[in-house]
Amino acid sequence: MSITIALSKGRIYDETVPLLAAAGIAVTEDIEKSRKLIFETNQSHVRVVLVRASDVPVYVEYGGADLGVAGLDSLIEHGGQGLYQPLDLRIARCRISVAVRNGFDYAHAVKQGARLRIATKYPEIARNFFAAKGVHVDMIKLYGSMELAPLTGMADAIVDLVSTGNTLRANDLVEVEPIMDISSRLIVNQASLKLKQAPLRAIIDAFASAVSKN
Ligand code: PRP
Repeated sequence: MSITIALSKGRIYDETVPLLAAAGIAVTEDIEKSRKLIFETNQSHVRVVLVRASDVPVYVEYGGADLGVAGLDSLIEHGGQGLYQPLDLRIARCRISVAVRNGFDYAHAVKQGARLRIATKYPEIARNFFAAKGVHVDMIKLYGSMELAPLTGMADAIVDLVSTGNTLRANDLVEVEPIMDISSRLIVNQASLKLKQAPLRAIIDAFASAVSKN
């Protein structure tokens, strides 16, 4: 029974490799150097497909992949429908925060009840956060380089992932309010879990055991 695993390049992939190894799975090519999207592994029935981070939940929901590793940020934006989420892998940990241009008095603007323009790749997370605070916002959806939005005057603030804080510092932005901690989760297609129970359970259990040792 063949198994397809959806992963995305970058931070999440690097930290997923040791978990795959714990399940006895190794990708046989260097994915960072390749333009291919489908990769064989040392196990003939297991293959890896590379998709954009925000598309991992979509591939798993619609059965393009049986399981995947997705950031909580992507999962919340997706909605999580049709996905079994058995494990917090505790990898690719960072936070999602509000950041503004150095010098912008965010606390004052919030206190005054000002309407804020928020640029973000995470409108769902941002909308929920500001709604709970009772702050009125206009949402500007972006797909990357959010740091530019306050610098060009397009937005008052951004909602973005912060890990080391280097990207914010390099662009003269400051983190003013954390929203939530983020880590990556294992997600599984619900139908696959029924149809391919044994091989999927073996992978989930191996991941769980590796995570508990980390
Ligand atoms: C995220 C985020 C920031 C950066 C923050 O981007 O959008 O640009 O990481 O990390 P830092 O605090 O360590 O500087 P990511 O690398 O996930 O890729 P993306 O630009 O495609 O979102």
